[in-house]
Amino acid sequence: MCGIVGYIGKRNPKDIIYEGLKKLEYRGYDSAGIALFQEGKIKIKRSQGKLSQLQKEMADPHFFATPHHEIFLALGHTRWATQGRPSEKNAHPHQAGSVVLVHNGIIENFSSIKETLLKKGHTFASDTDSEVIASLINDHIREGHDFETSVQRAAQQLVGSFSVGVMFEGDPGTLIAVRNGTPLVLGVCESENFIASDIAALLSHTHRFVYLEDQEMAVLKKGQWVVKNLNGKPISKAIKEINWTQEMIEKGGFQHFMLKEIFEQPQAVIHTLQDRVRKDEQGLLFPEVSKLLKELNPLGRIYLVACGSAYYASMVGKYLFEQFSHVPCEQDLASEFRYREPLIGKNDLLIVTSQSGETADTLAALREAKKRGAKVLAICNVKESSIDREADVTVYTYAGPEIGVASTKAFTAQLTVFGLLAIHVGMVKGVLSEQAAFDFIQELIRLPLAMENLLKQDAYIKKIAQKFYRKKTFLYLGRGTNYPIALEGALKLKEISYMNAEGYAAGEMKHGPIALVDEDTPVIILAPQDRHYEKVLSNLEEIKARDGVVIAIGNEGDERLKKLSDYMIEIPKRSELCTPILEAIPVQLIAYDIALKKGTDIDQPRNLAKSVTVE
Ligand code: M6R
Repeated sequence: MCGIVGYIGKRNPKDIIYEGLKKLEYRGYDSAGIALFQEGKIKIKRSQGKLSQLQKEMADPHFFATPHHEIFLALGHTRWATQGRPSEKNAHPHQAGSVVLVHNGIIENFSSIKETLLKKGHTFASDTDSEVIASLINDHIREGHDFETSVQRAAQQLVGSFSVGVMFEGDPGTLIAVRNGTPLVLGVCESENFIASDIAALLSHTHRFVYLEDQEMAVLKKGQWVVKNLNGKPISKAIKEINWTQEMIEKGGFQHFMLKEIFEQPQAVIHTLQDRVRKDEQGLLFPEVSKLLKELNPLGRIYLVACGSAYYASMVGKYLFEQFSHVPCEQDLASEFRYREPLIGKNDLLIVTSQSGETADTLAALREAKKRGAKVLAICNVKESSIDREADVTVYTYAGPEIGVASTKAFTAQLTVFGLLAIHVGMVKGVLSEQAAFDFIQELIRLPLAMENLLKQDAYIKKIAQKFYRKKTFLYLGRGTNYPIALEGALKLKEISYMNAEGYAAGEMKHGPIALVDEDTPVIILAPQDRHYEKVLSNLEEIKARDGVVIAIGNEGDERLKKLSDYMIEIPKRSELCTPILEAIPVQLIAYDIALKKGTDIDQPRNLAKSVTVE
């Protein structure tokens, strides 16, 4: 959710922090702030709204950094409000005495701590739980503890999730960071070091990272860093090299990250397939998955758990596993799974899907399943994320960094992985013939080209957007593997255009949603020529009989569908393995083009954040 960035080193930190925050703005963008040392004192600038507001504040000529023994130190924060509405006073950094802190997470016991501190005479300027942490550290300092011990003691008292960066006027050469439950990484170099919520903030400075685990703190001083547990015992940590580049997290000439990421999808699929398809194209390479299946033998159920778009990708996964691998599947939202009593056991496999690898509910579901003895396979886009590190096996989606809040290329890369896994498990179990597997693999190999061609329909989709962007409600319908794409299409539209959009299984239409149909409610109907085709066409006729307006997504050359619908977006005819991936492109473009017409903030839509690291 919120983004943290911190710097200690010989360079002036103002631009470093601001540029870092820009890279993290997708995590939260309702307010922002920066703290730096200026002539021995910590100075803070904060503002409500996006970073551009903070930039104006930072231009103040009286706000500048000065070094202490040649070393500059600074912290920055971009906020997604949890406790306390978005405002300047609730923006981070928060100051208590001479302690200054930025925080990402939620402190569950902040009220009781605050009460105790109030009784001791502390005062509070904001409504946040974060200020309480600063105040608690300050309280320990007032009691005579040194900076490091005070942070440790405070961290031990907190219940909830937090990653924090802390500065203290009494120790201008030390920056302290603590992680518990929300992500935090150190970026390390020869003569300067950084902290950040994710590596995107630091890629222009370093590719060497140290990932903090829960209950770990990092103490950064001139040219050195050490990681300790919360009792002060040093912990040896490995430095990981990450090869994402700065260019990968820039817009590259596109108006929005979302559009760039939509157009990157063929490449994302190519990279995700790479190294997984055997050279003779007769089979797939998943040695780690085969090993896992052996350990599980006999495989019980597959549980598919995720949030948001990743949940819809898992829904397609469920259809594919059942069809190609004959494995019984259950599917659940992570936020539900973690709190019910899932009957998952030691022969079951949990598959969690997450772009960021940091989604709090998905991570909690993973931990719950492990506690119950199940094995966990993660489908994940971010190496070294919490979910990647805690799963038994990770199959990566090689979509590259996804910056737009609305998931696009990660989603189709997840669908690709589900297709690959369903084929592989089907082959291992002997329920998918070699010929069938070969045919599906051929289809996957040819998929990126078909996606490239489909992207060329952007101009036609823009015309549809122009026609319908003033409507209030959209209905999305699909059946079988098209149903999750109907849900995904509706989610995309909701997220970035703030319009009401309902996704439904087409077979459910007469059980309620048909009441929405009139000349003012466009219906986007997914109608490829699959085994549901005739039934979906009947739904379409029923919509037309009620003056509904239909935008169909169907197969090239399907004249019958074309005649029945008002608009038709054509996709090539493929099996249920690749059709959802192809359908995803027009539903993404429809949402994008409508949002563009409406003038919304496409990459950073209101109220949302890219990775939901709190419950
Ligand atoms: O990082 P994750 O894949 O775990 O995120 C899950 C959802 O938060 C995410 O898919 C969200 O729904 C997107 N904004 C959808 O576009």
